[in-house]
Amino acid sequence: MNGEIRDRVLLVGFMASGKSSVGKELASRLGWDFVDFDTLIESRTGKTVARIFSEDGEEEFRRLESEVAKESLVRRDTVFASGGGWPAQPKSWTMVAEDTMSIWLQVSPLEALRRASKEGLTRPLLGGADAMDRATALLLAREAFYRRARYTLDSERHTPPELADKIVKLMEGAT
Ligand code: S3P
Repeated sequence: MNGEIRDRVLLVGFMASGKSSVGKELASRLGWDFVDFDTLIESRTGKTVARIFSEDGEEEFRRLESEVAKESLVRRDTVFASGGGWPAQPKSWTMVAEDTMSIWLQVSPLEALRRASKEGLTRPLLGGADAMDRATALLLAREAFYRRARYTLDSERHTPPELADKIVKLMEGAT
């Protein structure tokens, strides 16, 4: 695929919006690589994201996140899943080249919390008693940044395979 915006796909969206599941599915359909920023940070530091937050703080996590994003977003034939907070960091979108198909996977705070609780306590920003209030406020503050993606897909009512299908179709139509 050599179209203008078909060199790489970047998935953004709130925590538990399906970025990793959709990304893996899409990469395997395209025969492309899949890069998950959080996984890259974990393999590089030998620590889980939760441990980085608790031992080194969010600021250090954001520094690492920015570093892996900058290095990896130049790769071609790759599907990327960013962390939920990455698009809202200063300079993040300046790292996204024009030939990148960026997609916001949209999900409500309630559904995000439902999915996240199933996956266990791996997300430091979604724990605690007031999780729903915090998730709602966080999503509201981030929406304008997610909206910078070229396309928006409803990740609440579609499964990862359905979303991967939709993205392949968007790619076929994109120039
Ligand atoms: C974060 C989202 C997480 C992870 C970290 C911070 C956020 O990634 O990067 O816990 O700020 O929204 P997922 O979106 O994959 O859960």
